[in-house]
Amino acid sequence: MTDTTQTLPPSTAENIAELTLEEKASLTSGGSFWTTKAVERVGIPAIMLTDGPHGLRKQAGSADHLGLAESVPATCFPPAVGLGASWDAELAERVGEALGVESAIENVAVLLGPGINIKRSPLCGRNFEYLSEDPIVSGVLGAGLVRGIQSKGVGASLKHFAANNQENDRMRASSDVDERPLREIYLRGFQRAVQDAQPWTVMCSYNRINGVYASEDPWLLTRVLRDEWGFEGLVVSDWGAVNERVPSLAAGMDLEMPTSNGHTDAQLVAAVRDGSLDESVLDVAAGRVLDLVRKSQAGAGSITGPLDADAHHALAREAAGRGIVLLKNDGDLLPLSPAASVAVIGAFAEKPRYQGAGSSKINPTRLDNALDEISGYAGHDNTFFAQGYTVSPRDTADANELRAAAVELAGSKDVAVLFLGLPEAAESEGYDREHIDLPADQLALLDAVLAANPNTVVVLSNGGVVALPFADRVPAILEAWLLGQAGGGATADVLYGAVNPSAKLTETIPLRLQDTPSFLDFGGMDGHVRYGEGLFVGYRWYDARDIEVAYPFGHGLSYTTFAYGDAAASVDANGDIDVCLTVTNTGTRDGREVVQVYTSLADSTVRRPVRELKAFASVALAAGQSREIVLTVRREDLAYWHVAAQRWVVEGGSYLVEVAASSRDLRSSASVTVEGDAVSLPLTRESSLGEVFAHPVAGPIVQAALTQMMSTMDGAASIMPEGVDMMRMMNSFPIGRIGMMAGEDFSPEMIDQLLAMANAPQS
Ligand code: BGC
Repeated sequence: MTDTTQTLPPSTAENIAELTLEEKASLTSGGSFWTTKAVERVGIPAIMLTDGPHGLRKQAGSADHLGLAESVPATCFPPAVGLGASWDAELAERVGEALGVESAIENVAVLLGPGINIKRSPLCGRNFEYLSEDPIVSGVLGAGLVRGIQSKGVGASLKHFAANNQENDRMRASSDVDERPLREIYLRGFQRAVQDAQPWTVMCSYNRINGVYASEDPWLLTRVLRDEWGFEGLVVSDWGAVNERVPSLAAGMDLEMPTSNGHTDAQLVAAVRDGSLDESVLDVAAGRVLDLVRKSQAGAGSITGPLDADAHHALAREAAGRGIVLLKNDGDLLPLSPAASVAVIGAFAEKPRYQGAGSSKINPTRLDNALDEISGYAGHDNTFFAQGYTVSPRDTADANELRAAAVELAGSKDVAVLFLGLPEAAESEGYDREHIDLPADQLALLDAVLAANPNTVVVLSNGGVVALPFADRVPAILEAWLLGQAGGGATADVLYGAVNPSAKLTETIPLRLQDTPSFLDFGGMDGHVRYGEGLFVGYRWYDARDIEVAYPFGHGLSYTTFAYGDAAASVDANGDIDVCLTVTNTGTRDGREVVQVYTSLADSTVRRPVRELKAFASVALAAGQSREIVLTVRREDLAYWHVAAQRWVVEGGSYLVEVAASSRDLRSSASVTVEGDAVSLPLTRESSLGEVFAHPVAGPIVQAALTQMMSTMDGAASIMPEGVDMMRMMNSFPIGRIGMMAGEDFSPEMIDQLLAMANAPQS
């Protein structure tokens, strides 16, 4: 019941002693929808925790966790889908700082973000709130956001811990994940962000993991999070994620949110009184709440309003511009000349889709639209608009008329910029998508516009990736995601070249939903979601199966070009791999290149993806500039989770290090020899002969004995078909059952003696 590894933060020890049992219990659940409880008798104030993540959603009136009621105006920065595409932790940190400032001005102690769950399937309704299909990208950018927020004396809440990769049935379903993918894919990003940035809080998710609710899983919340990773903060529940309060507290779930109206506090008090809960466990949880209150009070009042809304809007615009991916640009159609007459087509150009539905929905301080911003570049007289299609069911305009007007406009202008995207209801917190297609009327409009004007640029607005069946036919495509309140301006900046695109895909765009890794079991059945693709998530899947994709992970073009020099790789004093190369901007425009490093190990003893991202950098280069850069692959990121040894193991060998412009655009490579971690597993009767043969002590003895035995077996050689390797046939035979073949040559006693000898400490 009591987990002895949970200890009270030292700074809270005396205060806890002053509190009654009831007061301690009261600290461990919310006082309202968004606040903790005060203990006025001893001067402990209540603090506020609120959404998040890409802006502040502080509700002054009615409270809800679905983004329904109003919140105070705040800057809506690009949601994670857009910010992540920058691959820039420093930019994420600057956005985090701005989020911290806005939270501090509003006296918010903890901002509920960032969300760093892996995009397991494009169908997840909440992918717009997540950063990537890759854990290193998610962890590194997540850590940047946490650092930025917390630098302003406001806590972050790393969420949703863990394996919360779908919305349907999210409050009950069990994510059934094998240990290696759980560790190497789904937890690795959390581990990185916890260890690099120490978030003040981690939010446990609604779902179960391998049958156990995240909110009552001592393995997850205490053994892994605290004992292995060294997390020092507080675990808060997702809103309503607590199933049974007493076991959740014992598991390490410190603060239940929102309020339980005192019901679960009473359960904790009763459990302490009847002896089923050790009071020291409650002390630890209440102590962590006190610690959080103390941290948030330390800087309280040092950042005051009014908010510099202009400066934050400018940062939102910069970040949005850094999130737009130039997917293709045939014939250098982009950037556009301001002198060209432009037909701007599509409802989203005027009424942008800039954030997703649900608890992250921000009430923006202002809202750019692309149409106005484009006319800012091209001039009012040169910019023409047609709605093209409807996105709201309430819009009763005639579809045929809208399309005809758009096509006529497109045909009469130098260039058409066509905004396509997903209607708001197509993706949301709380439910998943059923397909990845754009609306049929938009696709039909695209065909008609293209026929009328081949100089058509498509700009996409979507939170989860969409199929692009038109990619071969359209000369230029900008993936503009959901980009926050300044996305319209940023889109115009990229269209006209004021910003040179530098974003790259943090998730693969597949050709078809059927090609996606979790296609057969996404969503699950009977409350269980089998993660059958294992480690092979995102590009790991498409590469292992050699599946063609629309655009690969890591892809994104620029208006300039970059050359990669020869890479050199060496192991440094920390055991990390330093990868060194020169990158040159070979074009005539300043730009940025996201340089990616992938590693692989041929002949590995464990199943592995073809290549895995291990490091990356966003490198700014002026036109013509060359720069030598060093990217570091951390030794711990080379490790795989050794299931039998129950620990991370770096396998020794010659690693191939590939430096790349995308996961399928490899530019330079080098090999480097890495020394492996020693793993010695005790031999048991269950050990296979193969494992025994590999053992330094037992191996030679058993091999010699078996060779001898076979040479004396009557007719053994004559009945074996030529070329069949007898030893190899026996590799998977458990040594405990060898007596069946070897009889007296290997009695059970002899096997036990051999095992004891093999397992004895070697001098
Ligand atoms: C969401 C969290 C959010 C919380 C509070 C939950 O439904 O999953 O991400 O922080 O509500 O609004």
